[in-house]
Amino acid sequence: MDDAVLCRSSLAPPALSPYGRASTCPSPVNRMMAGFARDFRDAIDINLGVGYVNEKTIPIALLRRAMDAVIADPVRYRQAFNYGGPEGSANLIGAIGRFLTRSGRLDEQTLARKRLVIGPCGATSILDALAEIFAPGIVVTSDPVYYVYANALERKGFQLLAVPEDDEGIQMETLHRRLAALGERLRRIAFFYVVTVNNPSCTILSEARRRELVELVCSLTARLGRRIPIFFDLAYELLIHDPDVGPRVSALREDPLDLVYEIGTLSKVLAPALRIGYLHGPPGLLMDAMVQKTSDTGFSAPLFAQEMAAYLLDGHIGEQLERVKAGYRDKAVAVRRAIEAVLGPYLESCRGGRAGFYFYLSFSRVETHTGSPFFRYLSRTTGDPAIDGPPEEVAPRVVYLPGEYCVHPRGELVEAGRRQLRLSYGFEDTPALVRAIGLMAEAARFALAHQAPEQAPVHSR
Ligand SMILES: Cc1ncc(COP(=O)(O)O)c(C=O)c1O
Repeated sequence: MDDAVLCRSSLAPPALSPYGRASTCPSPVNRMMAGFARDFRDAIDINLGVGYVNEKTIPIALLRRAMDAVIADPVRYRQAFNYGGPEGSANLIGAIGRFLTRSGRLDEQTLARKRLVIGPCGATSILDALAEIFAPGIVVTSDPVYYVYANALERKGFQLLAVPEDDEGIQMETLHRRLAALGERLRRIAFFYVVTVNNPSCTILSEARRRELVELVCSLTARLGRRIPIFFDLAYELLIHDPDVGPRVSALREDPLDLVYEIGTLSKVLAPALRIGYLHGPPGLLMDAMVQKTSDTGFSAPLFAQEMAAYLLDGHIGEQLERVKAGYRDKAVAVRRAIEAVLGPYLESCRGGRAGFYFYLSFSRVETHTGSPFFRYLSRTTGDPAIDGPPEEVAPRVVYLPGEYCVHPRGELVEAGRRQLRLSYGFEDTPALVRAIGLMAEAARFALAHQAPEQAPVHSR
C-alpha cells in the first residue's frame, strides 16, 4: 500500500456509532470535575461537588466479616469467586425481598408476583441497559434532572421531556400541559423515569404524586395501546433521615397494569464499590431483555460482592441504616443552620436536607455558572492575588455543582439554573462544610460587586 495513504494524520477516524461519536467528547460537567480532580488538595480544598458517600458510613469491619462468612460457607455461598449468572445470586435476591417485606415497604403477595434481577454494575448499569433495550423515544422526567443519566440518554438518541418539580416532585399540571403540547409526538414516549429522592434537589416524591404518576402512565397506556412503563429510581430512598417524613411503601403495590418498576442500589447504604443495583417489577418481556443484556455485559455484579451483600442484608442492615441515617441527619441539620445564618440573605429558596445528602440552592441575584464571579471566587480564578492567593499556594477552593449542569439544557429552568447550585454534604465532614458555606457567602458578596449588570437575571431587570 502507498505510504502516503498510511500517513497517520490522514487516516479517517474509526466508524463509530452515533453514540460512540457523541461519547468522544466528555460532558461539560465531567470536564469540570476532571479539572478539579487533577489538582484537588485534600484538607485544603473542599469538595461539595461530588456525589460520593461519606467514607465513615462504609462499614469496613462488617464488610470484612461478610467476606469471611462467604469464604467459610461454600455450601450456602457456592463458588463465590467464579462467574455468576445473568440474573443475580439467589441468596441476594432472597435477602433483598426479605429486607423489603421486613421493613414494611412490600407485602409477601406483591413480592411473590414480581421479579427481581441484579445488574452488572450498580443501578447505573440498570439505567444504561434501559437505554439499550428501549427504542429511542421520549423519556419523561423531572427538572432539575439526574444529569448523569439525562446526558447518557441523549447520547443514545433519546429526547427528554423534563418537567419542573415542586416540593412534592414533578409538577402534574405542567406535565399534563407539556404532554398535550406533544400532539402526535405523544406516540414517541418510551418511558417515565422518576427519582424518588431527586438528585440534584433531594426533593422527596410524595406518595400522592407517586400515585398520580402511576395513574397517568395507566391512562397513557390505554390511550396509546402500548405499555408506557414508569421506572422509580430509589437511589436515596433508604436515606430519608428527616423523622417527620412518614413511612414509605413500594410503588409496586399499586400497579394495576404491570407498568411499575423500581430500581434500587446498595451503594448509598453499604458501599458503592460493591456495585449492587437491582431492577424489581413485573415479570415479562422487559425483564427478559434486561437479563439478556446483563449476560451480554458480562453477568451480574461480582458474585462474592453479591453474597457479601446478602449476608449483610440478612443480619446487619438495620443497625447500618440507623448509623448512616443518623450521620447524614446530623450533618444536614448543621449545614442547614450554616446556610440559613450566612447565605440566607442571598437565597431565594433552599431545597433538600431531609434525605440523601444534597441541598439545592437558588440564589435571588447571585449567578453560579462556570463563567460567574461567584464560581471564579471559589475556584480562585479571579485573577486577583488577594483572593486567589499566590500561584504556588492557591487559597482554599470550594467545588460545587453549578445549576447550569443540573437543569435540562433545553428545558424551562435554564435561566433559573444560572443562579442555582447543588451542594453535597455527603463527602466532607461538618467543620469543612461549615467553612465552605462561609466561603460561599464571601463569594456571593464578591459576585454582587462584580457581576456585570447584563448578567443579572431577567426577572430582576
Ligand atoms: C439518582 C441516582 N441513580 C442511580 C445512581 C447510581 O447508583 P449506583 O452506585 O448503584 O450505580 C446514583 C448515584 O449517585 C443516583 O444519584
